Amino acid sequence: MSNDKGTRAGQPGAIIVGASTGMGAALARQLVAKGYQVALIGRQTEKLEELANTLNAAAAAKTVTPVAQLYAHDVRDGDAVPGLLEQIRRDMGRNGGELSVVVYAAGVMPPSEDGEWSFADERLMIETNVIGAMAWLNTSAAVMKRMGHGTLVGISSVAGDRGRKGNSAYMASKAALSTYLESLRYRLHGSGVRVVTVKPGFVATPMTAGMKLPKPLTISADQAAGAIARQCQKGKSVAYVPGYWRLIMLVIKSLPASLMVRLPI
Ligand SMILES: NC(=O)c1ccc[n+]([C@@H]2O[C@H](COP(=O)([O-])OP(=O)(O)OC[C@H]3O[C@@H](n4cnc5c(N)ncnc54)[C@H](OP(=O)(O)O)[C@@H]3O)[C@@H](O)[C@H]2O)c1
Repeated sequence: MSNDKGTRAGQPGAIIVGASTGMGAALARQLVAKGYQVALIGRQTEKLEELANTLNAAAAAKTVTPVAQLYAHDVRDGDAVPGLLEQIRRDMGRNGGELSVVVYAAGVMPPSEDGEWSFADERLMIETNVIGAMAWLNTSAAVMKRMGHGTLVGISSVAGDRGRKGNSAYMASKAALSTYLESLRYRLHGSGVRVVTVKPGFVATPMTAGMKLPKPLTISADQAAGAIARQCQKGKSVAYVPGYWRLIMLVIKSLPASLMVRLPI
């Protein structure tokens, strides 16, 4: 990134972990539209490059400072996180920005033909959806606590609210992430750092591409990103996306086990 001309002092910076596709990419577009610099993180560098180029080309008309920078990273490499976070902060600082938001959107949900998942698949989900999240959120929390401000956003899921038939490890990973975020929120209370747990319902993204989702309950990644941004702005700590999922999950959480075994999923 260039480090001199076009600097806008105090520009907020956001790190999006899992920015190559789906909700992470949509959030990057939303944040840039709101005036943020974004650090785009993931493994699919071609997709990240395409997104960064689009965002920087759109911004070029207004400023010579690039607004998006990509960083190739596999979240299973947790030891790399402190160094990468510092590198991103330095890069943002050179462009007159300061880290303000970290979004953990990375996640995997391997498909299954027969309703069973291998241990390798289950381990992958825990490593990506939980351990990777801890590496980023724990490190970012410490940095933001020292700064005295910032917002941490974790994309969990309604899937973590109740165990159901189906992908047990995915649901367990999201339950773990939701509880981790809740605990972090209490720990950081009074530090100036906000922690937001996002619980989307069905969203049409590459993750759900092979699934038959109920159309009336399915939204696009852009719609989800818009709802996430709005709920964060309203100061919500736990954001169901869309909001009606709070009610749906209230009902599902109240169902007796005798009924849970009969649910199709
Ligand atoms: N779609 C839904 O219905 C739904 C509902 C509730 C919650 N969610 C959650 O929302 C989040 C975003 O998912 P999405 O639906 O937008 O799916 P998606 O398009 O598949 O996005 C997943 C993102 O995670 C990144 N990722 C996966 N493994 C990674 C790794 N090892 N290292 C770095 N990045 C990795 C991917 O980037 P690379 O492949 O480039 O690494 C990609 O950017 C996930 O946590 C998902 O569990 C989704």
